[in-house]
Order: sequence, then structure tokens, then C-alpha cells
Amino acid sequence: MKIGIVLGSVREGRAGESVARWVLDGARAHGGADFELIDLKFFNLPVLDGAYLPIMANKRYANAIVQAWSNAIDGCDAFVIVTPEYNHSVPGALKNAVDHLGGEWNGKPVAFVGYGADGAVRAVEHWRQIFGNFDAKVIRAQLSINIFAEMGENGFTPNERRAGELDGLLDSLIANAG
Ligand SMILES: Cc1cc2nc3c(=O)[nH]c(=O)nc-3n(C[C@H](O)[C@H](O)[C@H](O)COP(=O)(O)O)c2cc1C
Repeated sequence: MKIGIVLGSVREGRAGESVARWVLDGARAHGGADFELIDLKFFNLPVLDGAYLPIMANKRYANAIVQAWSNAIDGCDAFVIVTPEYNHSVPGALKNAVDHLGGEWNGKPVAFVGYGADGAVRAVEHWRQIFGNFDAKVIRAQLSINIFAEMGENGFTPNERRAGELDGLLDSLIANAG
């Protein structure tokens, strides 16, 4: 079983990188699956402007960048989405990336690690609706990381609850993917 940890911010100096790397390390320590970091910034996806609905593309895309993104997502059985909150919702670059695909997401379990001033809870609620359109199995357990308390000059310093929360999230994600 392969679980993709999707790093959903592409900003220069993004906080998400240290959060996603902590998730990857924690996931590998947890075990029970193969884990891969899928960094959205690596793909540099264009804005979705094709004439056809992605769900109709049958996972075959004219644009090589989109095809590489499709292959990365299609190769995973489940996902941990590491997401910031922008303007009380999901970050646009990641929403665009999600919109580019169709069947690659369908029916797969998805869990969320949010980070923000209020733990990105509004963004994660919106993601739950969005992934509902793919019949994804959205996992109840989530991490709501407070950037003021847990992000500082030394990067991400998770509070003592986080490791246990991540283990619980992964237990649920893996059980639903099995
Ligand atoms: C366009 C934009 C909108 C933001 N809106 C919110 C918000 O609604 N809620 C929040 O908690 N933080 C918000 N922030 C602050 C982010 O939580 C903070 O910048 C965080 O570092 C973003 O993650 P990133 O650095 O990985 O992109 C916003 C940041 C940006 C760039």
C-alpha cells in the first residue's frame, strides 16, 4: 500500500514544507504502508484551462506536466493532504491541482493535516466537501496545527499531542485503505 503525503503550498518560504516533512518522518516511524512525499511545487502545474472535463480524460493528458501529476496521484492508494488555509478556505494552487484530475482520486481514503492561525479548520471542512465529489473516504481524524504556538524561528515544533494524533490519523487511513 502506498500513501501519498501531498504538500499543498507552493509559496516561497512556505511553512508547509516543515510540516509535511514531519508528517513523512512520523508516517515512516508509524509504518504499515509505503509513504511518499508529493510536493505540488515540483510539478508547477498550469491553471486548468482545457476544453474537456478531467473526469472524461481517462487519466490520459496532452500536457506532460499534468500527466506526471496524474501518475503521481494515481500511483497512491490513499493520501494525507497537508494544507494551509488561505482566506478562510483551501489554497488555490492545490485546488487547481485537485481539479486537474478525476479518477485518480476516486474512492480513495483521504486525511488532512491543516495548519494556520486556527488550525486551518475551515480549509479542511472545505476539503471534505471537495473530496466528497470523488466519493473519497474522508477520514474523521485530522491534525489542526496552530502556527502561532507551533511554528517559530526553529521551524515546526509540534506540541506533545501531535505525534499521537498523527498515529491515530494513520491508523484510520490505513484501515480504510486496506
Ligand atoms: C493568501 C493568504 C491568505 C491567508 N489566509 C489565512 C486564513 O484565512 N487563515 C489562516 O489561519 N491563515 C491565513 N494565512 C496565513 C497562513 O496561515 C500562513 O501564511 C501560513 O504560513 C501559510 O502556509 P504556507 O506558508 O505553507 O503557504 C494566509 C496566508 C496567505 C498567503
